[in-house]
Amino acid sequence: MEWLNEILNEISKCSQTKDLELLRLKVFGKKGLLTNEFSNLKNISDDSKKQVAKELNDIKQKIESILTTKKSELEEFELNQKIESQKIDVSLFNSSLSPMYGHPINIIFDKIIDYFVGMDFSLKYGPLVEDDFHSFEALNLPKFHPARDMQDTFYFNDSMLLRPHTSPVQIRTMEEGKLPIRIISPGAVFRRDYDMTHSPMFHQVEALVVDKDKEVNFANLKYILEDFLTYMFGDIKIRFRSSFFPFTEPSAEVDISCVFCKGAGCRVCSNTGWLEVLGCGVVDNNVFKAVGLKDVSGYAFGLGVERFAMLSYGVNDLRSFFETDLRLLEQF
Ligand code: PHE
Repeated sequence: MEWLNEILNEISKCSQTKDLELLRLKVFGKKGLLTNEFSNLKNISDDSKKQVAKELNDIKQKIESILTTKKSELEEFELNQKIESQKIDVSLFNSSLSPMYGHPINIIFDKIIDYFVGMDFSLKYGPLVEDDFHSFEALNLPKFHPARDMQDTFYFNDSMLLRPHTSPVQIRTMEEGKLPIRIISPGAVFRRDYDMTHSPMFHQVEALVVDKDKEVNFANLKYILEDFLTYMFGDIKIRFRSSFFPFTEPSAEVDISCVFCKGAGCRVCSNTGWLEVLGCGVVDNNVFKAVGLKDVSGYAFGLGVERFAMLSYGVNDLRSFFETDLRLLEQF
């Protein structure tokens, strides 16, 4: 059968399933090469007929099995080619979307970080899943302090929790024991809260400055916060109100004159003319004791990024930052 080797050769060289189908028809079709051989059987003498028929059947099976293998090879190859050519890159810029700068929380984060990096602070990150020691104990929050309440903090078990503030990063940094310390720590924090001004996950930026004894004092803290808040909110009045945090002594809460009514009194500032924006203080000696630092002084402050974003953009429901509603996000 002169055609046999030729067709096998063609099959092995074939590179497309549709060409393979043509080859199949060339052999097995109505007027196909092998079909013809079978029809010719009737012209063969009876004594060799059986032998020839057997040979033809063997050839038939051989070609069929070669075709099946080749077909699955080609199908796989073509599928891979298709997948390759139709790959969708979801990160590709799509010019039909309206141009956006970014998420308001990120914009405020960047603005805050820019300021402090310019003031020679370095960035420090810490784990979101924290232990009791770094979140409370070392921060002078003894057992049974109300802030440890299950109602405020998400616990995994007795000792592990989702950090309710960025202050554990203070402790981790001081534990390294290198002075001076001049860090800010931005990141997510978690509390069991949900209403217009609270969400179970939100973001804080914590700052910590520590140096040799008497090098760092409240005046340094006051100076940098006044400069920073003016940078963030422009022409505002600032006041320090004495307050309490277990990890700072003395402590203060800082208010700015209401950015909406300029201090005249409105709904947002509950007619006080003032808005509370952050907590701060001189690091309590018990905190230094907990991390084994002696003869040092320091200040710390912490702020809520969502609160800053709400005040900067006049957004009145904090939850809308997390709803990924394009009608809100497109405005940034
Ligand atoms: N950790 C405090 C909070 O989450 C903020 C704070 C940080 C206050 C540092 C004082 C000093 O509310």
